[in-house]
Amino acid sequence: THQWRGVIEEYRDRLPVTADTEVVTLREGGTPLVPAQVLSERTGCEVHLKVEGANPTGSFKDRGMTMAITRAKEEGAQAVICASTGNTSASAAAYAVRAGMVCAVLVPQGKIALGKMGQALVHGAKILQVDGNFDDCLTLARGLSDKYPVSLVNSVNPVRIEGQKTAAFEIADMLGDAPDIHVLPVGNAGNITAYWRGYSEYAADGMADRRPRMWGFQASGSAPIVRGEPVKDPHTIATAIRIGNPASWEFAERARDESGGLIDEVTDRQILAAYRLLASQEGVFVEPASAASVAGLLKAAEQGKVDPGQRIVCTVTGNGLKDPDWAVAGAPQPVTVPVDADVAAERLGLA
Ligand code: F0G
Repeated sequence: THQWRGVIEEYRDRLPVTADTEVVTLREGGTPLVPAQVLSERTGCEVHLKVEGANPTGSFKDRGMTMAITRAKEEGAQAVICASTGNTSASAAAYAVRAGMVCAVLVPQGKIALGKMGQALVHGAKILQVDGNFDDCLTLARGLSDKYPVSLVNSVNPVRIEGQKTAAFEIADMLGDAPDIHVLPVGNAGNITAYWRGYSEYAADGMADRRPRMWGFQASGSAPIVRGEPVKDPHTIATAIRIGNPASWEFAERARDESGGLIDEVTDRQILAAYRLLASQEGVFVEPASAASVAGLLKAAEQGKVDPGQRIVCTVTGNGLKDPDWAVAGAPQPVTVPVDADVAAERLGLA
C-alpha cells in the first residue's frame, strides 16, 4: 500500500491528465538520489546522482512514456511509433504492451546496444533497422505518423516532456529546494528541456526557492549545439547520444541561457573514464551516455568552473546492463579454479 504509484499519480495535478484519464504505468520514477562521495571530494561540492537506470525499463524514458502512451490510449490510438537510439524504443515497447497497442520502432542499423534491442524484441515490438543514423530514423518516423494511423511517441510529442519534468520535482522534493547546478547528458535535447520546465514550474509555484544552472554535455563527435550547426555523420561510443540534429535544440539553448548555464562537449575517453569511476568508486553502473554528465562535471572542475560548496545533481540516465560491452572490454579475464579452497585463496591473494 506504500508503493510509489508512478509519476502520473504522484504528480497528477501537474500533468496533462483529467480525472477520467486511465493511466498506463509501470510505476516509473521515484528513483534513488544517491550521494556521490568521491565526486563530492574531487569537486569540493555536495554531489548527488539521480539514478534513472532504476526505472522499470532501465532509463529515464519511462517518465515520458507513461504520459505518451496514456495519452495515445486516451485518443484511441492502436499503434505507436518512435525513432530511437535504443532506450526510447525499449520503453515504448514495454508501455505499449501494458496498453495493448502495437509498437513500431525505427533504430539506426548496427548502432544500438544489444540489451536495448533485446528489450524491444522481447516486448514484441516491430523493429525496422534503418540504413541511416538517429536523425534519419526520426525523419522517417515523423513521415509515417503524418501519413498513417500511428501515433508518434518521440520527445517531439509534447506530453513526453511533461512526463520527464517530474524528475526535477523529485529532486527538489528530496533536497528541499532545487540544486545550484544540474548536470546531464544531451542527445536529442528533450531531457534538458524537461528538467528546465520542471524546475521553472516549481519555482514559479513557490515549491522551490530557486532554479539551478543547467549544464548539458554532448559527446565530442556528436556535438551540434556546441558547434552551432548540425553534425552530418555523428559518432561516439555513447550510442544513446549519437545524434547530429537534436529536435529540441532551441529549447536546450533556452534552458542554458535562461539558467546561466552551459552546453559543452566531452570526449569518448572522458566519458569512459567517468563510466569506470562511477562503477568502481561510487558503486553505480550506468551506460556510457549517462556518464557524459559526470565526465562534464569533472571537466568543468578541472577548468576551475566549479566553485566549492555548491549542491550539484548529475542525472545518470540509463542502466549499465543495457550496454555491458564496455564493462567487459579491456578488463582482465576471470581466472578459473578447481573446487579447492587453498587454490582459490591463493588466486584471491588471501593466502
Ligand atoms: N542518456 C541516455 C541513456 C539516452 O538514451 C538518451 C537519449 C540521452 C541520455 C539523451 O537524452 O535525447 O533527451 O537529450 N536517448 C534517445 C533514445 C535518443 O532514442 O533512446 P535527450
